[in-house]
Amino acid sequence: MRITILTGAGISAESGLATFRASDGLWENHRIEDVATSEGFTKDPTLVHAFYNMRRKAALDAVPNAAHLALMRLEGHHDVTLVTQNVDDLHERAGSRDVIHMHGALNRALCAACGHDWPAPIVMTPEDLCPACRQPTTRPDIVWFGEMPYHLERIWQALEESELFVAIGTSGNVYPAAGFAQHAGRRGATCLELNLDSSMNADDFDRQILGPASETVPRWVGDLC
Ligand code: OAD
Repeated sequence: MRITILTGAGISAESGLATFRASDGLWENHRIEDVATSEGFTKDPTLVHAFYNMRRKAALDAVPNAAHLALMRLEGHHDVTLVTQNVDDLHERAGSRDVIHMHGALNRALCAACGHDWPAPIVMTPEDLCPACRQPTTRPDIVWFGEMPYHLERIWQALEESELFVAIGTSGNVYPAAGFAQHAGRRGATCLELNLDSSMNADDFDRQILGPASETVPRWVGDLC
């Protein structure tokens, strides 16, 4: 079966990585405009690098959980397109191949001047030089608010060709990802939500399974394999 899966922060919560909108969410001590916009980065690059250095270290110390591992198993049995809003690499470390990081990746660096991208060092600083153009214009390769998510053309196409769309651990607050269920549903896909709490766009799904991802995802994958 052709399946498109969208994961969000909830799938990595049980690996110890904080979600965004929970009461202990990462944004709590930082205003979104300060750490997740290009204006914030221009204003205080030291703060923004420190924020992503902290998240990069947390991701490195985390390990994939049963939900990441189950999705890797699913790939052996079905034609799966795995899209994630997460910037950690827990899907890859669980063994998933070809993970589509629509919001970028903590382990990549990007040059704001020439567009070159390369593997990020664990600690980035405003003084780092781009290895291609030698300018001190390096930034985390993260899609900030107001910027265009990556790989959208490929994602829309997968949604249109899928029989099943599954959203896992995402609150449905951030577009365009929050519009994927509606888009896939209109093109004939069945839409399933696996989440701890109902998402903002729960009405766009045909079915919902509530519970922690480390339990619901392996059970659901077990039914399909
Ligand atoms: P949120 O923090 O908005 O939502 C996390 C979702 O995961 C919520 O619906 C929770 O109920 C659910 N959840 C929490 N723990 C869970 C568990 N153990 N098992 C299953 N579900 C669980 O995170 P996202 O929806 O991923 O964008 O946020 C989307 C985007 O907002 C992020 O990619 C980020 C942020 O701004 C960028 O950085 C561009």
